Amino acid sequence: MAETKTYPVMHNKNAYITEANYSELYARSINDRDNFWGEQAEKYITWFQKWNQVMTGDFENFNVEWFVNGKLNACYNCIDRHLAKKANQIALIWQGDDPKESLTFTFAELHEKICRLANVLKKEGIKKGDRICLYLPMIPESLIAMLAIARIGAVHSVVFAGFSAEALQNRILNADCRMVITANEGLRGNKIIPLKENVDAAIQHCPKVSKVIVVKRTDQAVSWDATKNIWYADALAQASADCPCESMDALDPFFILYTSGSTGKPKGILHTLGGYLVQVAMTHQLIFNYEAGDIYWCTADIGWITGHSYLVYGPLCNGATTLMFEGVPYYPTPSRFWEIIDKYQVNIFYTAPTAIRALRHEGDEWVKKTKRTSLKLLGTVGEPINPEVWEWYYHTIGNSHCPIVDTWWQTETGGIMISAYPFATPLKPGSAAWPFFGVVPQIDSLGNLTLQHPWPGMMKTVYNDPERFKEYFKNNAYQTGDNARYDDDHYYWITGRCDDVIKISGHRIGTEEVESAFLTDEAVSEVGIVSVPDEIKGEAIYAFVTLKQGVTPTDDLKKQLIHAVRQSIGAIATPKYIQWADGLPKTRSGKIMRRLLRKIANNDVSDLGDLSTLADPDIVKKLISERLTSI
Ligand code: PRX
Repeated sequence: MAETKTYPVMHNKNAYITEANYSELYARSINDRDNFWGEQAEKYITWFQKWNQVMTGDFENFNVEWFVNGKLNACYNCIDRHLAKKANQIALIWQGDDPKESLTFTFAELHEKICRLANVLKKEGIKKGDRICLYLPMIPESLIAMLAIARIGAVHSVVFAGFSAEALQNRILNADCRMVITANEGLRGNKIIPLKENVDAAIQHCPKVSKVIVVKRTDQAVSWDATKNIWYADALAQASADCPCESMDALDPFFILYTSGSTGKPKGILHTLGGYLVQVAMTHQLIFNYEAGDIYWCTADIGWITGHSYLVYGPLCNGATTLMFEGVPYYPTPSRFWEIIDKYQVNIFYTAPTAIRALRHEGDEWVKKTKRTSLKLLGTVGEPINPEVWEWYYHTIGNSHCPIVDTWWQTETGGIMISAYPFATPLKPGSAAWPFFGVVPQIDSLGNLTLQHPWPGMMKTVYNDPERFKEYFKNNAYQTGDNARYDDDHYYWITGRCDDVIKISGHRIGTEEVESAFLTDEAVSEVGIVSVPDEIKGEAIYAFVTLKQGVTPTDDLKKQLIHAVRQSIGAIATPKYIQWADGLPKTRSGKIMRRLLRKIANNDVSDLGDLSTLADPDIVKKLISERLTSI
């Protein structure tokens, strides 16, 4: 592969990590692990009681524990401890979908609202350890709800508000949630999302959900069950603004977040409190070189791990000003992101390659209308970034003076695992670069990326499914599910997934979930889902569908199947191509040969590999001749 050029390190006198100190600190993080992490835990987090062991356990026994017997509270770390010096500093800037609508909240203001909501939750009988589902748009109440839940030691399970009612229901049931917090409607790019209606549909079969708290985001009336529904604002107005923080164990469950795997239903990744908080606070400061006073903007939705770690917990732990944006990058125009950067003088901007690709596609004139002179640093996350897109981000958005951190990590890792250090790493466009402290990546003979040592932010388990948790570990290493390569200069390059997970616009979707969604339609006999490259979204879904005997393939039926997928998962899983297939290539024992489907969909059929186990070679020939080239 042709190497891209390397950009030399930019000097910054305020850099925490420099070319001079990185190697020594990294070596300490591996060779003197407990002391290293003990120091970080004291530096970044305020503990009610110190731990008596930094780490115990190992991958082999699935029993890693960090900061054993330490006591702390996430909300205390994010809010209360900043009140002495920063009560009147802005903690949250909220920019609404409508450019004219915005709000700011100081630490003191957030504190008051969080305490009130925490008291409402207590009044409704929520106790330490209870699960609460959040199905909320990007509004201040979502951050307030996460912290109020953390304050009383309950556990949040945030479900992305773009998921369907059915997907929401599955997640509520799996986590056994007692309550849902939602809004009457959501607003994105001037489009309305019927959140309360979805919740009503979802909880019809969730008997344990006793209350639904509803934020009034728009003026639209919604159906109302007075025995179950509570208006957020009314409840807060009646609640006391005084609520102590619960003292939690470092190993208490903190939150559950569902994500897709290769097979089966989405998994509830469970993070515990102590290690996670240390990891996200430390990475937020060092990878983004966050300095007091910086305006920091992460565009991720709170429904994903990036929103949890780098919009809410990491920045607030560090007393940062974090910006939350309700809308989408191209509404009202494709200048929107850049206008927001100018409006608030954003210094640090963290987004996904899919957004950068989409905005680059719109043309430079949308960027050139804005200045972006406040920017000091750019970040990307969620999928590989093409070098040419990286160059555009660097030169056109960053005016060639901001380092880019391409941060590789996962829902399971809790925080950033591989990234450039902005003022220590010479940058190579497209490479995630160096391991974070304590992270020991290794690439096995198949090109699969593994992590060799435990790190504080790693998930504790898969909720309700310890067996699936165990599947992550082989040969005493954590299996990331990604392919990677390592170059002669010791840089890591993440090349994509090595399993059946697809990344569409950075969103993680399991092929099996999409197949199950297709099979909910009576017309479908069999289906095989694979991924194909997409210029903007990174990857897209290509479906091979075999219909039941007697069913006629029509364009209307395609629409119906797309609808079925959206109903069952949500719009993010909308298939781009549906090819009718008389049959799917199978082994003689009846297993679908997905490898062949992948090659056919990608028009990579010059060498189909070993076909000796294929039951009916004619099927493959037919699929190749009928391959779709357009939607
Ligand atoms: O395939 C990798 C890709 O996103 C996966 C994790 O997805 P999720 O759990 O949804 O978390 C996304 C946000 C942390 C990884 O297994 N991925 C994430 N970051 C990068 C990436 N691929 C390449 N480069 C990255 N910087």
